[in-house]
Order: sequence, then structure tokens, then C-alpha cells
Amino acid sequence: MNIVVIGTGYVGLVSGVGFSELGNNVVCIDKDEKIIDNLNTGIIPIFEPSLEDLVHKNMKEGRLRFSKDLISEINNADIIFIAVGTPRGKEDGEADLSSVFSVAEELSKNIEKETIVAMKSTVPVGTMKIIEKIFKTKSNNKIIKTASVPEFLREGLAVNDFMQPSRVIVGSNYPEVHSTLYELHRPLIKSNKNLYFQTDTQTAELIKYASNAFLAVKISFINEISNLCEKIGANVEEVADGMGLDKRIGRWGLSTGPGYGGSCFPKDTLALIHTASQNESPLRIVEAAVSVNDSRKAFVFSKISEEFNNDLRNKNFGILGLTFKAGTDDLRDSPSMDLIPKLIEYGSNIRAYDPQGIDEARKKLEGPIVWCKDIYEASENVDAIIFMTEWSEFDSKNIDFNRIATLVKKKIIIDFRNMYKPYDITSLGFDYISLGRKVSRSID
Ligand SMILES: NC(=O)c1ccc[n+]([C@@H]2O[C@H](COP(=O)([O-])OP(=O)(O)OC[C@H]3O[C@@H](n4cnc5c(N)ncnc54)[C@H](O)[C@@H]3O)[C@@H](O)[C@H]2O)c1
Repeated sequence: MNIVVIGTGYVGLVSGVGFSELGNNVVCIDKDEKIIDNLNTGIIPIFEPSLEDLVHKNMKEGRLRFSKDLISEINNADIIFIAVGTPRGKEDGEADLSSVFSVAEELSKNIEKETIVAMKSTVPVGTMKIIEKIFKTKSNNKIIKTASVPEFLREGLAVNDFMQPSRVIVGSNYPEVHSTLYELHRPLIKSNKNLYFQTDTQTAELIKYASNAFLAVKISFINEISNLCEKIGANVEEVADGMGLDKRIGRWGLSTGPGYGGSCFPKDTLALIHTASQNESPLRIVEAAVSVNDSRKAFVFSKISEEFNNDLRNKNFGILGLTFKAGTDDLRDSPSMDLIPKLIEYGSNIRAYDPQGIDEARKKLEGPIVWCKDIYEASENVDAIIFMTEWSEFDSKNIDFNRIATLVKKKIIIDFRNMYKPYDITSLGFDYISLGRKVSRSID
């Protein structure tokens, strides 16, 4: 099939490359000229494991192209996917749909043949109805058919998630659109046809938001349990392991941490709450999850501050991990991006390291920050090392803590991802502060 993907970010690029890998002819389009110029010379705008190789391979084999020119490409397409950003709006958590609507307007004026327009961006329930209206009133020949195909890929695992999806949700009110989209996705679901879930547009739109909200609730739930563990002397990791053994619950999402971030959960929970309140059907559980997550930021800061008797002036901190999770270069709503300015505001100096996020972080943060090339440089002369992201590079087997002990000023490790066994750290002479577990003091 001939496919056009509009928006060449995390979702658009991965989907475009994925569809070309399945044998389709794909053109990825972006309004950001630099992204397209870079891609045309083989430079990938984002970090996503194994993406670069697939881009190069499919370009070379002639199935994948990049273009800035939407209008000259759309009339060759059987299916057009919209994958532009839908960031948090300015007020009320409402999603900002300006990019989506501007693409819809452009398509309505320029599509001249029968085409399917499928929404991959996360859009509030009812958005496709509005887009249908735009197509019906503004297009010349009214032959555009719509679908909602929400994306569930996880950054850091995106290529794998595309090639081996946990499910393919397709909503459309046109039976013929369903058969075309089933054909397109067939190679991805050959192991299990039940992974393809067919529904109407509104339901597909809500499945995406309800899924993200549910996962956010799970994360906020374990973070509150973690707080309780600290008060009563229980171990949150063991609570989570014990709970996760129940298949109805599952272990995913039960890892306590500095709060969820990223480009999806924070904005999607707020947008869903907004939709719910507009429809006078409040989602109190989701509201609570958002409020718990917001308070997590203050909690992370106070945990550090208390360790230093609430005097952070002239303290030096090694911050390890800037991205909102491991495996991505995405800094959107990352806990580190909130913490670092606050530490600086209270008089601290920062040494920061991240395997993928430094270049972007450097553009976003200012103040007394030394950008480091590795964990050891970030440990030099610091009062504490603070782990914020669970990169595998930070696994105990990959770190020489004995070497770190020789570099730091004070042997304190604050771990907001519970990556280590307390004894492994304290036996090396460090104090070890983690989440939902007792503070472990050095035993040397
Ligand atoms: N990132 C994720 O993990 C993820 C997962 C599932 C769903 N989503 C959803 O997918 C959508 C895209 O997310 P993303 O993370 O890929 O965003 P992104 O910001 O990485 O990429 C969006 C791209 O769209 C381009 N764009 C904006 N307006 C355009 C226009 N008028 N014409 C052409 N290009 C335009 C931007 O330049 C940008 O490159 C969002 O709705 C998001 O909620 C994201």
C-alpha cells in the first residue's frame, strides 16, 4: 500500500518506518524542515533503539522517503496517518489540537481521490467527529473516510512495540475502512488474530485515554503505598513483588519512583479529566492519580533536603538520569527537569549525566550545571549522588562503586528508582536512601 504519515516524531517516524519494513511504500512528512533535511541525509531526530538501522535499510531499499511537501504526496496515498503532537493545552488540561486541525484543513482542501485518513495521535473523544465534519464541509469531493488507530508504543521499546504489538485498536464507522486497515496490520498480528480489535471511532479514542489513565493510577497507587511503607517499616519492593504475582494485578507499573513523566501520561490524564468534566461524569480516581503524581515532585525534593537538614546551599549533587525513563532521549515532563532547577534555586550546584538526554537538557536548563561524560565525572566531589532514571548503564554490575567512593565528597546515594540492594551499597561505606524501604546507613 502507499502510505503517508504526517508528523515525524516518536510515533510518526516509528510507524512510518515500521510500515515500510512490512513492505509498504511510505512517505513521512513533517513541517519541521530540519527534521526532514536531517532524515534525508540519514540523521535520525530521536533516540530509539534499532530505529536508525531500520530507517537506513528501508531508505536504501526504496520503500521509505521523507518530504516537506504534504500537498504533492497525499494524492498518491491509500492511507494517510496523522501523527502530529497533541500537547497539553494552556488551560484546564485540555489537549491542544491545533496541529491536528490544521492538518485536517489542509487535507480537506487538497485530497482529490478516495483516501482513508487515520488518526494515530492521541485525541480526545469526539475529535474524529469534528474532523469528519471538516472533511464533509470543506473537501471538494467528500470521499475521505476516517479511522482512529491510537498508538500504544512505549518510548525506548517503540520499534519492538510496533513490530510486536500487544494489540491493534482500530475504530471506524466505515466497514470498508476496517478491511483495508486489517490488511495493512495483518503481518503484525499473524501470531494471534485476537490482537486486532475492531470498534467504532469514539470507543477507539477512549480506549487510548482510559489505558494511559489506568496505568497512571497504578503508578500513583504504588507511590502512595511506598510512602506508607516508609512510615511503617515495610519494604515496597517486596509488597510490589507479592502483589504482582497475582495475574489480575501484574507487576508492571508497581515500581515506585519519582512520579510518572513523559509525553503521554501527564497530558493524557489531564485531557481525560477535562473530557470527563465537560461531560459531567467526573473521574475522581484519575484526578487522585494526578494529584499524587504532582505531590511526588515536592516529595522527591524534600527527601533530598531533609538529608541535608534543609540546607542545600553550596551542596554539590551528581544527578544521574535526566530523561523521564530509560531507553529514550525524551525529557518531556521528566522528574529531573523539575528537580534540577529547584535544587539550584535552593543554592546547590549540579553535575549531570545521562546516556541520551544531555544535548536536549543543555538547551533547557541553565545555572551552575556541569554536563558530564559519565557517571564517574558526575560523582566528582559531590555531597550525594542522586539516581533519577533507571538506565541499564546504572545497573550495579555496570558501575564501579569502589571507584565512585574515591571521587565523592560524601558517601551518600539517593536512589529514586530503587535500583540497588541496600546491603550492596552500605557495605561499600555509603549511606543509601531509597523509596519505600528503610534508610540504610553505611556499615563501615
Ligand atoms: N511519544 C509516545 O510515546 C507516544 C505514544 C503513543 C501515542 N503518542 C501520541 O502520538 C502523538 C505524537 O506524539 P509524538 O511523541 O510522536 O510527538 P512529537 O512531538 O515527537 O512529534 C510530532 C511531530 O509532528 C510534527 N508536526 C506538528 N504539526 C505538523 C503539521 N501541521 N504538519 C506536519 N508535521 C507536523 C512536529 O514537527 C513533530 O515532529 C501525540 O498525540 C501523542 O500523544 C505518543
